[in-house]
Amino acid sequence: MLAQLDELYAQSLDSLATAVNTAVLDAWYKDTLGRKGSIYLLTRQVGQLPAEERPAFGQRVNAVKQELETAYEARLAELKAAELQAEMTASAIDVTLPGRKQWRGGLHVATQTLREIYRIWGDMGFQVYRSRDVETDEYNFELLNIPPHHPARDMWDTFHTTTPGVILRTHTSPGQVHAMHDYYPEPIRVILPGMCYRYEQITARSELQFHQVEGLAVGKNISMADLKGTLTDFARRMFGADRQVRFRANYFPFTEPSAEMDVECIICGGDGCNVCKYTGWVEILGCGMVHPTVLRNGGYDPAVYSGFAFGMGPERIAMLKYRIDDIRYFWGNDLRFLEQF
Ligand code: DAH
Repeated sequence: MLAQLDELYAQSLDSLATAVNTAVLDAWYKDTLGRKGSIYLLTRQVGQLPAEERPAFGQRVNAVKQELETAYEARLAELKAAELQAEMTASAIDVTLPGRKQWRGGLHVATQTLREIYRIWGDMGFQVYRSRDVETDEYNFELLNIPPHHPARDMWDTFHTTTPGVILRTHTSPGQVHAMHDYYPEPIRVILPGMCYRYEQITARSELQFHQVEGLAVGKNISMADLKGTLTDFARRMFGADRQVRFRANYFPFTEPSAEMDVECIICGGDGCNVCKYTGWVEILGCGMVHPTVLRNGGYDPAVYSGFAFGMGPERIAMLKYRIDDIRYFWGNDLRFLEQF
């Protein structure tokens, strides 16, 4: 019987080694070491042995059981590892693949330009003052020294509402008068950003709506030199420290004297190109010394106070800076355009 046991042991070890997966291994365990397995069946025959051989056989059976148990554990660990490895290979994640890019939103180019303008004027001590989009004819025109039927009204084609005398502001200048009413008798240093509306043919150069940033400084002894110095400084901060500027005399009803400021063309650096129409200069804003009538309308005595004002178009500035050749892109909401900024 000992020989039988050894043969069973050898066979069992062989079939253990050839078990290809844990399912086969489970079956092996049941057939070999299980409650009705071959080892158990063999021990049942112990009664047939002469009494003196039984202890040796019993010891041997226990040793064989122990060894098979150990061999089983080892094989089980091996197969489990192999199966895990196979599973991992099958569902493998290739960590060397580049990740998918997150889609990120961004600020509209007009907003970016506005914020840059706020930042620069903020650094120079100007506060943002907001005023309304829907205005009265009085604030939009009359208090700015543009009486009814004044020919200068042709400069601003107006959207009227169904309420007589209530219009959409054609420029941010009416905010000057609101600010003066609010601040009097304190000195003023504000910028007034906002949307403006004009009843105009839409073209590559003009839109129905666009932003302006108005500026107003009122105090004692403010001179034209302050105006020129401040605006020159703005242009250098916005367009670069060595950028040239020039002032050209102009006419606005609410300032006297009035001017427009040009900067050296950002595209060609002054050599001449189609953006600057081969002049080397591009106009970026209107400005002037606040007209005595407007100061008076704001509550400030022009004999004591003086001030300067200006108005610029952020979209125009963005067009120059980024070479955008058509203002209609700004409100077209075409992602191919917007994503470039
Ligand atoms: N309001 C003017 C416009 O829309 C721009 C302007 C010119 C504003 C001169 C000013 C200024 O404050 O002083 O065309």
